[in-house]
Amino acid sequence: MSDRELRVSKIRNGTVIDHVSGGQALNVLSILGIDGSEGLGVSVVMNVPSDRLGLKDVVKVEDRELSQSEVDVISLIAPEATINIIREFDVVEKNRVDRPETVVGLLSCPNRNCITNANEPVETKFDVVDDGVRCTYCGTIIREELAAHIAPE
Ligand code: CTP
Ligand code: ZN
Repeated sequence: MSDRELRVSKIRNGTVIDHVSGGQALNVLSILGIDGSEGLGVSVVMNVPSDRLGLKDVVKVEDRELSQSEVDVISLIAPEATINIIREFDVVEKNRVDRPETVVGLLSCPNRNCITNANEPVETKFDVVDDGVRCTYCGTIIREELAAHIAPE
């Protein structure tokens, strides 16, 4: 590397979410519920050239692994993402994300009258359909504006 290049450091332990669709990194962080106040080490690279994607983002989160529902929602905004688990600087696991059939929790239903918004102990559940995700309870469809419906856990 010449002194004109600066690269984000490798991490010792944690998760690297690579091949994120360009511009989606901040939405990935909101899916993970990370806003910086947790004190976790977080590195974000946005809109760097990628052979496969044109432009990609990379999100590195130290000392944190992801839950399956977090990975499921990430797959909807970053279908080409790879999830790399890092232990003692080594990539010990690398997984592509899969488009899930359903997403439980993490998203909130935009319909104010939906049972999931009625202070009942009902977790949100959405079926993944061609043009977005559909609330299992009331049928409301969230299309492009998925990131606006990420519910804080
Ligand atoms: N990485 C990291 N810290 C480590 C190891 C890897 O931040 N200790 C990052 C790398 O910078 C890369 C990603 O994790 O962004 C995946 O690492 P690796 O599998 O070594 O890279 P590639 O072979 O380029 O991955 P792929 O084949 O998935 O493109
Ligand atoms: Zn609903």
